[in-house]
Amino acid sequence: MPSSNSFIIITMDGGAAVGKSSTSKGLAERLGLMHVDTGSHYRTLTCALLGSGTPAEQGETISKVLETLELSTQIDGRSAKLGINGMVPVDSDLRSPEVNAQVSKFAAIPELRQKLFAYQRSLADLARDQNYAGLVMEGRDIGSIIFPEAAYRFFLDADEATRAARRAKEGQTDSIAARDEMDRTRQAAPLVCPRGATQIDTAHHTLEEVIEKITHHIES
Ligand code: CDP
Repeated sequence: MPSSNSFIIITMDGGAAVGKSSTSKGLAERLGLMHVDTGSHYRTLTCALLGSGTPAEQGETISKVLETLELSTQIDGRSAKLGINGMVPVDSDLRSPEVNAQVSKFAAIPELRQKLFAYQRSLADLARDQNYAGLVMEGRDIGSIIFPEAAYRFFLDADEATRAARRAKEGQTDSIAARDEMDRTRQAAPLVCPRGATQIDTAHHTLEEVIEKITHHIES
């Protein structure tokens, strides 16, 4: 186990519905960490841009609208949530069919990712200031771009049928295969298994087993 005064950073990457959120929240609870879901950051900016009537195709307008958006943070339990101009959108808005369908188009825009880069890195300082034992951050590019230097980097995966079944169980309308394809093939920070990350197939393990595996890996 890392010594009690060593702050740890865990990165958790993977495609849609592979179990990143449940695993990250469980680890945060077990190890006393702050949890950050960066997918919700992209969803929050997507909501704001759609709300301002700006489609993903209007590059120049997007840059202008992004300049007007001020990022802030609200802590909810162990999770740090992104606010835009002081407001944190509710989960039902972040996971609406329209946002599910549009978010990967917005997430492929370099200016939009640039807007989040320094903010996402700064959350490690926030977690330290708030006396958390560390930070667990989930997304698509956390171990590759945001915290490539992190000591503990994981990449979760599961077969497509398992993932589709999980999403259907949550009652969501979401084309996860299409979203993954867009995320994997974009130029800016594509979805990849970061070099040296530990890969875990979540289809054949319970959530508790995955959390146990990761905790064991960190402690050893
Ligand atoms: O919950 P789910 O796994 O379905 O998706 P999410 O984590 O909420 O992410 C929504 C979308 O945001 C992804 O499909 C990516 O297009 C984008 N994203 C990204 O580009 N980079 C990240 N670090 C996290 C999410």
